[in-house]
Amino acid sequence: MTTAPPKKIGILTSGGDSPGMNACIRAITRTAVYHELEVVGFRSGFKGVLEMDFRPLGSRSVSNIIQRGGTILGSSRCEEFEEKEGLYRAAENLREIGIDALFVIGGNGSLRGARELMDSWSGQVIGLPGTIDNDLGGTDWTIGFFTALDTALDSIDKIRDTAEAFERIFLIEVMGRLAGDIALGVGISGGAEEILIPEIPLDLEAVGRRLMGAKKRGKGSYIIVVAEGVCNGGAHEVAREITRITSYECKLCVLGHTQRGGSPTARDRILATRLGAHAVKVALDGATGVMVGVQKGELALTRFENLERDRRILDPEQLLKINTMLTI
Ligand code: F6P
Repeated sequence: MTTAPPKKIGILTSGGDSPGMNACIRAITRTAVYHELEVVGFRSGFKGVLEMDFRPLGSRSVSNIIQRGGTILGSSRCEEFEEKEGLYRAAENLREIGIDALFVIGGNGSLRGARELMDSWSGQVIGLPGTIDNDLGGTDWTIGFFTALDTALDSIDKIRDTAEAFERIFLIEVMGRLAGDIALGVGISGGAEEILIPEIPLDLEAVGRRLMGAKKRGKGSYIIVVAEGVCNGGAHEVAREITRITSYECKLCVLGHTQRGGSPTARDRILATRLGAHAVKVALDGATGVMVGVQKGELALTRFENLERDRRILDPEQLLKINTMLTI
């Protein structure tokens, strides 16, 4: 850990972009400028560190971005950074540029990279949870999750109109390779009849039975929200199986990357702003190797090595039970 407070900081956004990353870049930059720190932004995540692709950031360079989706710095999944060689080069470059503290906004993979960088670089590393998936330990909410929920919900509401008109069965695939948070969130708020998530073993025979029972009782439309990681082949495979089991035709809609875009909701902007400002404060206090998050409404720090261990285990049982009761 460096003892002197940082004078020059770097910011990067990495992995899947999420709405609110810009609000976070803005909060980090302006808090740093307030404390008279020099700020640079790396282009396209860790790739920018490896390629020495960066630019100075000041208060004005982050004007008018709080409402914008995506990330003004760009993002990437940088394979080179997963190799020892890449990490050494990144460390050398950071030393050459004179960075004292690096702020990494991203999800699981990005924060793993941030942690590994610390083996070859002695500067401070602070992580911020930026992913729509909400699948990180150390925080109840990740930046972008709430916007993704609203985006997906808007689509589900629209699909419901046409599903109802034709009394159709619709499968809607939402993002979430490893976590069912988006599916559970939009499934509950969209009034879906079924919610299929990776955390719960898939039982399509049971889904088929419930669907046939509901149809017998005179139910018209039937909405099934599927997290992409629920099985190999995602909602395509689920649709095929349900048709095989029930003989009902299933319409399919994959929401895909629409969930990653768009203007962040107020809730994501507030979260991103709180976390960004706090990240600078803890860096000034000497913290390193930690991710800032929010737990039970309070700002919290979690060491990188505990992010996996402290991963909030989604307990969807109760919500799914309620949801099944509502499917009458
Ligand atoms: O990590 C966020 C996420 O949106 C996942 O839910 C999704 O599986 C993945 O990114 C897709 O990312 P890409 O298409 O950018 O590789």
